[in-house]
Amino acid sequence: MTQDKFVNRVAVYPGTFDPITNGHVDIIKRGIRIFDEIIVLIACNPDKAALFTVEERMEMIRETLSEIKGVRVDAHAGLLVDYLKSSGASIILRGMRALSDFEYEFQMALMNRRQTREVETVFLMSGFKWFYTSSKIIKEVVSLGGSVKALVPDNVHQKLLEKFNINPRSNTNNRK
Ligand code: COA
Repeated sequence: MTQDKFVNRVAVYPGTFDPITNGHVDIIKRGIRIFDEIIVLIACNPDKAALFTVEERMEMIRETLSEIKGVRVDAHAGLLVDYLKSSGASIILRGMRALSDFEYEFQMALMNRRQTREVETVFLMSGFKWFYTSSKIIKEVVSLGGSVKALVPDNVHQKLLEKFNINPRSNTNNRK
């Protein structure tokens, strides 16, 4: 068993981010207290048809995280572990929400570990406020005229309203 410590604690936080939500931001803000750098990686998930283009998602993430030092954004199509190797990162950061995430996350972590032993997956438990949010459910609610203002960053909320041609004045049910 290798006893080597990771020299640089660079973590890659991969996801579809279609779009980034406050739940993701929470993980990133807590993660940067632990890691030297976090690369937020828009990773292609062929099972998901995206609402926003990769460029739109990158821009929203950059705007959202502009004030957090040590975070950058990138995109990658292909194996996640290949990205880690080429970027010199050795940690995969994932947020764990309700129990339903466990099996999927376990499967991915084990598969990534099977690809390379040089990488470790680290899980942070999602803040309880975000336990039951997901990008899919947020998009569904907005498309039907509901409000998700408290669940996404302001710039993302604006972009969602534009995508679905919703007048901001008619979308005022801002429950926290
Ligand atoms: N708070 C709120 N919501 C959260 C969250 C949090 N902390 N963390 C995740 N979510 C939501 C996301 O919004 C997303 O919602 P959606 O399904 O409605 O879109 C859902 O949880 C899970 O999404 P995400 O974390 O983005 O994972 P994913 O399943 O979309 O992404 C990849 C999986 C991209 C990381 C994975 O497919 C991958 O690594 N792909 C690269 C190719 C590869 O290497 N494949 C082999 C992997 S073993």
